[in-house]
Amino acid sequence: MTQFDPKLSVAADLAAVDECIRERLASDVALVSQVGEYIVGAGGKRLRPVLLLLVAGACGCVDRRAHTLAAVVEMIHTATLLHDDVVDESELRRGRRTANAVFGNAASVLVGDFLYSRAFQMMVGVGNMEVMRILADATNTIAEGEVLQLMNVGDADITRDSYLRVIRYKTAKLFEAAGRIGALIAGADAETCERMAEHGMRLGTAFQLVDDVLDYSGDVAQTGKNLGDDLSEGKPTLPLLRVLECGSAAQRTVVRLAITQPGTADFSAVMAAIRDTGALEFTAQAARAEAARAAELLEALPASQRKQTLLELCTFAVERTS
Ligand code: IPE
Ligand code: IPE
Ligand code: MG
Ligand code: MG
Repeated sequence: MTQFDPKLSVAADLAAVDECIRERLASDVALVSQVGEYIVGAGGKRLRPVLLLLVAGACGCVDRRAHTLAAVVEMIHTATLLHDDVVDESELRRGRRTANAVFGNAASVLVGDFLYSRAFQMMVGVGNMEVMRILADATNTIAEGEVLQLMNVGDADITRDSYLRVIRYKTAKLFEAAGRIGALIAGADAETCERMAEHGMRLGTAFQLVDDVLDYSGDVAQTGKNLGDDLSEGKPTLPLLRVLECGSAAQRTVVRLAITQPGTADFSAVMAAIRDTGALEFTAQAARAEAARAAELLEALPASQRKQTLLELCTFAVERTS
């Protein structure tokens, strides 16, 4: 079976979105365009703009504003990646060395700021106050999520609720915004906008849960990111929290140490504890539950090819290997 490729589902619209991003990356300051091009040109799944475009289409209208706002959402996402890779000290992204590895931390942070503010200029250009509110709130929440996560690093006593809050903030919030804006600009009623917002939030949560699985079990050639970044940082994600919840005393000790003293972590012992407690399968199951709820929320939409593709996206979010 060939794998579902989210980008192909809205290829023509996405070409317009990519053109919009490229145009707006332009700057007289050479390093800005260079770093921007470097990360944007490396590809990525374009999942958030795809979601916005599909929801807008399924609600009846994809126009120029949809393209611009899909570009805005992807640029906000790209800015978070530039900043996130500095904070996480990551070295590989989209199959390339990260921007921080190539251009340094300072350039990554500053070009991330450029992308955020350029995205805001673009959304002001669209001139819809409700859309501005949604994106301003989402961007603010993402920042809170990343800070909350920073506070959780090295802490083996955080609860599953605290972890879920982090992923809802840092990842699901932007998916939520994409879903809500897609419905809003297509002129959907308030109830549909609410439903599409929750759809995005559930999809984004499922997506991040799987990301946290892939950090332990992924194939670098497919994810384009290094394995074990979360562990080497002492990030208490659900695979580790699950071992702490249900592992033996010895398994819990290994994982607790890996979180509190990440530099000394024994990757293979942690992997064994994760494997023997079924923690990755447990996390994947939590992702499937979120994706199932995301799919349910689509039921009220009228039948269409785009609705069908949105359903496929729910499956992709949990079955993906890249
Ligand atoms: C990476 O997002 C950051 C997370 C929220 C896990 P993506 O996996 O969507 O990254 P790209 O855009 O496809 O590279
Ligand atoms: C997602 O978390 C980060 C953002 C939402 C910016 P991760 O730190 O797990 O993302 P990756 O694994 O680096 O892509
Ligand atoms: Mg990261
Ligand atoms: Mg990750």
